Amino acid sequence: MKFFVDTADTDAIRELAELGMVDGVTTNPSLIMKSGRDIREVTREICEIVSGPVSAETVALDAEGMIAEGRELAKIADNIAIKVPLTWDGLKACKVLSGEGRMVNVTLCFSANQALLAAKAGATFISPFIGRLDDINLDGMSLIADIRQIYDNYGFQTEILAASIRSVNHMAEAAKIGADVATAPPAVIKAMASHPLTDRGLEGFLKDWAKTGQKIL
Ligand code: G3P
Repeated sequence: MKFFVDTADTDAIRELAELGMVDGVTTNPSLIMKSGRDIREVTREICEIVSGPVSAETVALDAEGMIAEGRELAKIADNIAIKVPLTWDGLKACKVLSGEGRMVNVTLCFSANQALLAAKAGATFISPFIGRLDDINLDGMSLIADIRQIYDNYGFQTEILAASIRSVNHMAEAAKIGADVATAPPAVIKAMASHPLTDRGLEGFLKDWAKTGQKIL
């Protein structure tokens, strides 16, 4: 499973990229707002750090506007994936932009039918939002499983990009189902390394090591 980082915080991206943990980045208008930076400036910097797909989101509501914004965002760097919402107009924009050979990430997906339409429209990535479904007492992870089954039934090439990931369990579950990509905040990716038994085991080893009086260096 590829790891995308869901942030516009370039320091956090750099730290994870140095460990080889970053296959791409996803941003959205809320994350750009949180960064406090200009969309072009921060997106360009992200594209310099990461060679994989970097999603930059359009904000127009009509297809024509999304297409124009998408072409503009694509000028930032060769690895831009244009993010459009899963609306009828978003699907039209996806069809046109993917037809031009651009990467398109169709976002705000909350149903299997929406994912089916995005694949038909030539999306490079479909972004089902797990956490936001969980927030309203639905099962975000079962949507990932449904889309996996549907795409596999017909051999759709659109990659399932599990989004709105809030916990380390979401990461493991998405990987078990076979999501192609998971995008998560840096804190979730770092938390994947933690286990209380690791900490307890380390503490025990260090106590015993101290008793030996030895040194490695
Ligand atoms: O990738 C989409 C993601 O940014 C949404 O996450 O936590 O705002 O639902 P969240």
